[in-house]
Amino acid sequence: MAKLKMGIIGTGGIARDRHIPAYQKISDLVTIEAVCDLNMQAAEEVAKQFGIKKVYTDYHELFQEVDAVTICTPNKFHAEITIAALEAGVHVLCEKPMAINAAECESMIEASKRAGKMLSIGFHYRFTKDALAAKRVILENEIGQPIVARVHAMRRRKVPGWGVFTNKDLQGGGSLIDWGCHFLDLSLWLLGNPKPVQVIGQSYNGLSKMPNQVNEWGAFNHETFNVDDHVTAYIKFDNGATMLFETSWSANIKEDSEGVSISGETGGIDLFPFELNQAKHGMLLNSQANWIPGDDDPGLTQVTNFVESCLGLSELIVKPEEAMQVSKIIDAIYHSSETSEMVNL
Ligand SMILES: NC(=O)c1ccc[n+]([C@@H]2O[C@H](COP(=O)([O-])OP(=O)(O)OC[C@H]3O[C@@H](n4cnc5c(N)ncnc54)[C@H](O)[C@@H]3O)[C@@H](O)[C@H]2O)c1
Repeated sequence: MAKLKMGIIGTGGIARDRHIPAYQKISDLVTIEAVCDLNMQAAEEVAKQFGIKKVYTDYHELFQEVDAVTICTPNKFHAEITIAALEAGVHVLCEKPMAINAAECESMIEASKRAGKMLSIGFHYRFTKDALAAKRVILENEIGQPIVARVHAMRRRKVPGWGVFTNKDLQGGGSLIDWGCHFLDLSLWLLGNPKPVQVIGQSYNGLSKMPNQVNEWGAFNHETFNVDDHVTAYIKFDNGATMLFETSWSANIKEDSEGVSISGETGGIDLFPFELNQAKHGMLLNSQANWIPGDDDPGLTQVTNFVESCLGLSELIVKPEEAMQVSKIIDAIYHSSETSEMVNL
């Protein structure tokens, strides 16, 4: 079987740290043919570091060389590059969030359907062993119908001040669109992707606007900080399920914590770590996993699923229609916060 020819667009942190090493671990299925970055020097350095032969600054030229691309640029360019790639007949794995807003996501999905090419989004939390186990357990009906999800992704004073994370124009927002999106996606998937119908939310950034920050991840400019650093939301779904959601980069809390807790009709699931909570045999049972199969690197499992799906060997786990629901909820939370109103979707 011919290997998939892959190109990487945007050679910054996530391309170097996660995607390129992961693809190189599955070299029986895929080869990285070329990298592309607006910054030629950055692209050349990465190409040299990983032994990749071709380097481009214009992604249109790279499309001629490959079957698929992984897009690792700031969020603002996700839609534009994805659509151009699909129109050139190239499969796309685009980093999260899918785009700056849900309208752009819709255009990406239409382009994928027109081209008949794969489109997936880098929601790698789904590929953690604990999350995959939770999904299997829910599909095997161990918790019955999910009712309430409590979801949190909380950091204590860890604003990522480097790169573009606090640039609203390039990223579309802060803690919610950057980090909270992973947990929205993961919990929606575990809930069975019900349709969100009502959203009320509040975003804050007052804490990061204060001078003389104590920030564990280094200094950032509080004067230009214009994205959210703490967000709360309440989301209702068409099947009656609800979600209580909170995310922050910079809360005054005791310690960092992240997790999804789903209470269903006959049992519940907690992540992370995986725990199954049931009322069974006349008692309350809490079951932890002693061993879960799979690779410890969710980035590797993620790209393996994408590559195998492009080659027709697997079914895509992160579908673009599901990723778009995440963006719809994010748009609704920001809108609800601005208008102080509940958003009906
Ligand atoms: N899955 C995760 O947990 C995770 C973690 C970090 C970042 N990300 C996502 O990955 C993306 C990139 O983040 P990063 O931290 O690697 O950013 P980065 O700033 O380190 O790198 C982005 C690179 O894209 C290049 N670039 C910008 N516009 C381009 C264009 N039009 N064509 C080609 N190259 C272009 C820049 O020159 C830069 O080298 C973002 O969407 C971010 O949300 C995901």
